[in-house]
Amino acid sequence: MLSARPAQLVNMASVSTARLISLLKTNQACVQHVSSRASSWWSGVEMGPPDAILGVTEAFKRDTSAKKMNLGVGAYRDDNGKPFVLPSVRKAEEIIVSQKLDKEYLPISGNADFCKKAIGLALGDNNPVLADGLNVTVQGISGTGALRIGSAFLSKHFAGPKVAWLPAPTWGNHVPIFKHVNMDVQQYRYYDPKTCGFDFNGALEDIAKIPEGSLIVLHACAHNPTGVDPKKDQWDEMSSLIKKKKLLPFFDMAYQGFASGDVARDAYAVRKFLDDGHRILLSQSFSKNMGLYGERAGAFSIICSDKDEAARVMSQVKILIRPLYSNPPLHGSRIVATILGSPDLHSMWLKDVKGMADRIISMRSKLKANLEKEGSVRNWSHITEQIGMFCFTGMTPDQVEKLTKEYSVYLTKDGRISVAGIASTNVEYLAHAMHQVTK
Ligand code: LMR
Repeated sequence: MLSARPAQLVNMASVSTARLISLLKTNQACVQHVSSRASSWWSGVEMGPPDAILGVTEAFKRDTSAKKMNLGVGAYRDDNGKPFVLPSVRKAEEIIVSQKLDKEYLPISGNADFCKKAIGLALGDNNPVLADGLNVTVQGISGTGALRIGSAFLSKHFAGPKVAWLPAPTWGNHVPIFKHVNMDVQQYRYYDPKTCGFDFNGALEDIAKIPEGSLIVLHACAHNPTGVDPKKDQWDEMSSLIKKKKLLPFFDMAYQGFASGDVARDAYAVRKFLDDGHRILLSQSFSKNMGLYGERAGAFSIICSDKDEAARVMSQVKILIRPLYSNPPLHGSRIVATILGSPDLHSMWLKDVKGMADRIISMRSKLKANLEKEGSVRNWSHITEQIGMFCFTGMTPDQVEKLTKEYSVYLTKDGRISVAGIASTNVEYLAHAMHQVTK
């Protein structure tokens, strides 16, 4: 009916011509905006680059060569190049299934039994820090999730500069993890390309220049990507310098057991720093040492000064986790807690870890020996000197590209190879390919 004309039109009758033109223009702009939105909401979204590590797996999957090797992502393979489920994990899963447990939500902070066992593994069950209740430990969505909780907490509550001091180089995901919470990143010298080893003096010099009261990120063992770790006496010296500079150490421990095959030895730095009186942050992952990659089992801890502080910190950590993902997944945490909670399974697992570490160590020797057999005159001694899952080969981006294009060997652009992805059946092929692109 005519009497039902829109109020806007009725009002238009009384506005000036200039106002009318302006209203019509606005209206036209709105129509254009709505119609362009209807055709695409995301036309302005730019194509992003593939992930520096996980993107390598995507490219590997597209390759049809029978000889292809994926040495990009750090994922352990057995000697036939197949994914490996640890016997101790299989056994723990049998136990869990037989218990017919429910699938209720975990608390925001995760599986309390898992948290207790995870931090006990890192610090040693008898560590006084645990007896005094100084640790705040929550379950994280593996190592990345643990670091992400830590970065969110630091961004909100750290009184020092909002800068993370990272080793150069560092794991590719460290930088975005801190940037996502609007922290800046800076780097201290760590790797010496001349020796393919640890730049101890460079690290000390740079750490000495970090402003007092800053945050420093340290790889607890099996440094990723370089496979280069400080020796015990070097850790000792770094600990006293970091103490002197009043820096807050955040340890990323993704490979406990993987470096040496001995979980206590690989926890040396973390335990030493605590003995020296540091109040540390710690992220742990069970992806590698229990092979729980897709289960996303990890832990984040903050060591506080007293119990009251720990209770306050825990309350704030929970406030951060709730809007991120509410509460973490159950299954992986149950596997970890079952293994670490049973003396039999625990010792079975220690053998599994040692077995994986030993296979990696033997692949290092075989790769080096085969490169020499190929006639390579380059010094490859760093292959056996570096430790853990990765070898930082020293190959240039051009050589890496050639290796991938001509030999279907996939690795990250920085020349890192996951030694855990090499098998007895293809180590000769890899050595041949590496020699061809580096000679
Ligand atoms: C790696 O560095 O390859 C692993 O830590 C896997 C990952 O998520 O990057």
